[in-house]
Amino acid sequence: MPKLYLETFGCQMNVLDSELVLSQLRGQGYEPTDDRHSADVIIYNTCSVREHAEQKVWSRLGELRERKKNEPHLVVGVIGCMAEREGTDIFRRHPHIDILCGPAELDKLPAMVHNACVTNRQSDQPRVGRQVALMGQSVRRSSTLQVARDELEMLDLSRAISPGDQMSQAYVRITRGCNKFCTYCVVPYTRGPEVHRPPGNIIEEVRKLVDSGAKEVTLLGQTINHYFFEQNGRRTTFADLLYQIHEAVPDLPRLRFVTSFPRDFTDEALQAMRDCPRICRYLHVPAQHGNNRILKLMNRGYTIEQYREFIDRARDYMPDISIASDFIVGFPTETDEEFEQCCDIIRYARFKNSFIFKYSPRPGTVAIDRFDDDVPETVKRERNNRLLDVQGEICAQNNRAMIGKTVEVMVEGESKLVSRRAKSNTGVELGAGFQRKQSVSLSTNQTQLVGRTRGDQVVVFEGDLSLKGQLLDVVITDAQQMTLFGKRVESPAELVGAS
Ligand code: SAH
Ligand code: SF4
Ligand code: F3S
Repeated sequence: MPKLYLETFGCQMNVLDSELVLSQLRGQGYEPTDDRHSADVIIYNTCSVREHAEQKVWSRLGELRERKKNEPHLVVGVIGCMAEREGTDIFRRHPHIDILCGPAELDKLPAMVHNACVTNRQSDQPRVGRQVALMGQSVRRSSTLQVARDELEMLDLSRAISPGDQMSQAYVRITRGCNKFCTYCVVPYTRGPEVHRPPGNIIEEVRKLVDSGAKEVTLLGQTINHYFFEQNGRRTTFADLLYQIHEAVPDLPRLRFVTSFPRDFTDEALQAMRDCPRICRYLHVPAQHGNNRILKLMNRGYTIEQYREFIDRARDYMPDISIASDFIVGFPTETDEEFEQCCDIIRYARFKNSFIFKYSPRPGTVAIDRFDDDVPETVKRERNNRLLDVQGEICAQNNRAMIGKTVEVMVEGESKLVSRRAKSNTGVELGAGFQRKQSVSLSTNQTQLVGRTRGDQVVVFEGDLSLKGQLLDVVITDAQQMTLFGKRVESPAELVGAS
């Protein structure tokens, strides 16, 4: 049995793609391994969103150059967004790559891996045949767009779920690609145009996952609230889809979705979230910036006033909703005053957390052609840290308000927090008096477990590792910026809505 090492970089879409690809390859007799040094097939599922994400893959590929000289049978594959963005140019830098497959072509990967293995086995020289499947190369030229979509749909439909997998959390794609073309972003080029999956297939997949033990399903799409499917005159909106899943799979305790786009979020979708108790009241709805001129240069298609209006509307429907955002600092021409408006929107929206990125010019995007990357790296870093501080203070306040409340937690496993005095993720410690002393010595079989609330807050508490995958009630006793601490309660008090 050939041993297969698959490493994943990037977002949840890539995590899901890797799971699907792995399940297909496993079905064809490849044996997954965590040890890349002993693998016969090495595949990197890559991300192109920032330069840093690509650098990690370049260094992994560099390592393999020597190995390939000594092991001509080794098969090396690069799949995902970087494969699509780099295209066949990648062979100039790394001629030892056998397989290049973009995210929109992954249904072809099993055949490609098979062909590469067969070809390389026949040769004592470092590799001969090369397998390429890229959307940008119009490999599907002979087939219609619909055939291409149907073929790709098979990848999601082929998901092999065995009860032994014991997957308590799972992703389900509802939309592929993106049509937004924000000027800084590679995703529309790497993932292709927006395509929505048929609601019946989505519901069937959620059903299958729940039957094999899933307790939390996260629906995935780049602009998920744009979901819209029409067939034979029957229309399904995003709100319809939420209601349908909620009704068709009543034994799913938690349904979530990411990522939402701030514009065109309908009242119906907010009503669905309000009215369906098993839909988590959590939104990841990136603002990206707080200034209208920059938002325009980014081609985001909304103003900061419209963004605020959306936050207000969401909170009108669900006062307890938990909202997260993304920001890009140091976008070309950003001034200090404009940057300050990012701080303002964080304070206004009181986000649960924000993912903050320094602008990274990406080849092929509009921004790299049109604007000089003129904000110096030191300024980008300063703004990045300042925004983390502002968000950190809001996190601390939000978390402090949770003390004394009882929340439902989905146990994810053992906590990596060794000490409760460890710095928070933002690198900023809370002020004196906030970290109450508590014993960390644990009784036998007990460990520090970590889990998430319905609002996506991280909770650490003492418990047995066998509780992994379960939903438990935990009373919050203490809080840090990025983490809540609590104690398991056997008979719950009144649960906190979104939390
Ligand atoms: N579809 C999602 C985002 C997908 S990319 C949305 O529109 O919200 C994830 C995040 O990476 C983005 O939200 C953005 O904040 C960041 N990002 C994308 N391109 C970037 C770039 N060129 N430089 C820095 N950050 C970037
Ligand atoms: Fe990228 Fe914008 Fe699409 Fe999000 S909406 S994936 S940021 S182009
Ligand atoms: Fe990266 Fe592609 Fe996701 S660029 S963030 S892996 S869609």
